[in-house]
Amino acid sequence: MKIGILISGRGSNMLALADAVSEGRIPGAEIAVVISDHANAPGLALAAERGLTTLAVERQGRTRIEHDRETIAALHEQRVDLICLAGYMRLLSAEFIETFRHRILNIHPSLLPSFPGLDAQRQAIEYGVKWTGCTVHFVDETLDGGPIIAQSPVPIRDDDTVETLSSRILIEEHKLYAAAVALIVGNGYEITGRRVRGKTT
Ligand code: GAR
Repeated sequence: MKIGILISGRGSNMLALADAVSEGRIPGAEIAVVISDHANAPGLALAAERGLTTLAVERQGRTRIEHDRETIAALHEQRVDLICLAGYMRLLSAEFIETFRHRILNIHPSLLPSFPGLDAQRQAIEYGVKWTGCTVHFVDETLDGGPIIAQSPVPIRDDDTVETLSSRILIEEHKLYAAAVALIVGNGYEITGRRVRGKTT
């Protein structure tokens, strides 16, 4: 299965997936392309250093639909089967989601449905919850609202700042994303309504 990873910045989840593929923890997967909506995203240079195929599809000067169509064309060109959003900070158009329905995954730094959207770690601290974490889910038309594939909890400590909490969640994100992608690539799941469950047989 050919994976396309979309990033906007640092790219640590992209690297975690690349490591998992090269270490054989996602059997049957290959990373076909890493695409960023910013040419200067640090993650894009890191991907290129790893020998991965990289591409920048700049947002500037394009409408959302033009930008998405260019990204879709690049994914088709690389024959991508599965898309992993990894810190891709741009909402996808309905056309993008329809083109790859049930084939787009996202990782989000909270236990959804709590704290969707931006600054999830700050939202959790300010709300006062004692546990947060991270979620891998299918992407649909709702904001961080598609069916949940996997979650990991992380406690919030009294002395946590956004930075300390984010870095502890990130460690869990890297493990969770690789495990969730392995489940999807291995077709070891079934979906009933919103419930994504491991296959029993
Ligand atoms: C990660 O914490 C990811 O969960 C978050 O951005 C960070 C990207 O880091 N994504 C979102 O908040 C999406 N709503 P990375 O570039 O090092 O993977």
